[in-house]
Amino acid sequence: MVIVGDDPASQVYVANKEKACTELGMYSEKYALPAETTEEELLSLIDRLNHDDKIHGILVQLPLPKHLDDKLIINHILPEKDVDAFHPANVGKIMIGDFDFVPCTPAGVMELIRESEVPVEGKECVVIGRSNIVGKPMSMLLLHQNGTVTICHSRTKDLKDVTRRADILVAAVGIPKFVKADMVKPGAVVIDVGMDRDENGKLCGDVDFAEVEPIAGAITPVPGGVGPMTIAMLMRNTLTAAKRAHEKKGC
Ligand code: GUN
Repeated sequence: MVIVGDDPASQVYVANKEKACTELGMYSEKYALPAETTEEELLSLIDRLNHDDKIHGILVQLPLPKHLDDKLIINHILPEKDVDAFHPANVGKIMIGDFDFVPCTPAGVMELIRESEVPVEGKECVVIGRSNIVGKPMSMLLLHQNGTVTICHSRTKDLKDVTRRADILVAAVGIPKFVKADMVKPGAVVIDVGMDRDENGKLCGDVDFAEVEPIAGAITPVPGGVGPMTIAMLMRNTLTAAKRAHEKKGC
C-alpha cells in the first residue's frame, strides 16, 4: 500500500486495508510518503515493489497530490500486481470479459448482488456515475451478467425518468443523499457506493436512506454496505495475484 500526502479519507481507507491484511494473515508493507514526494521517487518505489517477489499486489491510493500524474503512476505498476485493476491492460480485460482482477468496489457490488440472489439477467440496471474506478467498470460487470445497462452522469437529461426505470440502481455520484424517493421504482434494489459527509459532517451515502428505504426492495446502508465489500475484494484480488505468481513459478 502506497499513500502520498495526508488526505484524511485516504488515511482511513488505507488503515482499513492494512487491518484487513493483518486479520487475514496477509503480509503487507505500507509506505506513507510526504505530499512533496516527486514522481521519480514514487516511480522508483513502484519499480522496487514490482521486482520484489514477496509482494504480489501493489495499491497506490488515489487521489494523488496534484503534481503527480495518476495515469503515469498507475501505468508503472505491473499489470499482474495491479490488484486495483486500474492499469489499462486490466481495464481492457474487463471490457472484453476476460479478467483476473475486478476493480474492488464494483466487484463488491456484484458479490452483494450474487449473495442476495438478485437476478441481473434482462433487468434494467442504472448506474449513476461514470468514473473509471466505479461507474464504468460497474456497468461492464452488470452487462457481462446480461443486465440492460444505462450509465447516467451530470449531463443526463431527465435523470429521474431514467433512474425510475431501474430494477437495480447503483449510486456512485459522490453527492450526499442525492438519490431521493421519487427517483426510485418501488421494489428496486438500491446499492449505495457513496462515502460522503452530510451537513453535520456525519458519514452518509449518495442515497437518502431514510427516504428510499421504505420503498426499495433492498438497499445497502452507509457505512457498512459496499465499503467492507470493497476491502474484501481487494484481499481476494491479492490472493489471486499470489496464486498466479506461484503458478507461473511452477510451485
Ligand atoms: N480511492 C478511492 N477508491 C480507491 C480504490 O479502490 N483504490 C485506490 N487505490 N484508491 C482509491
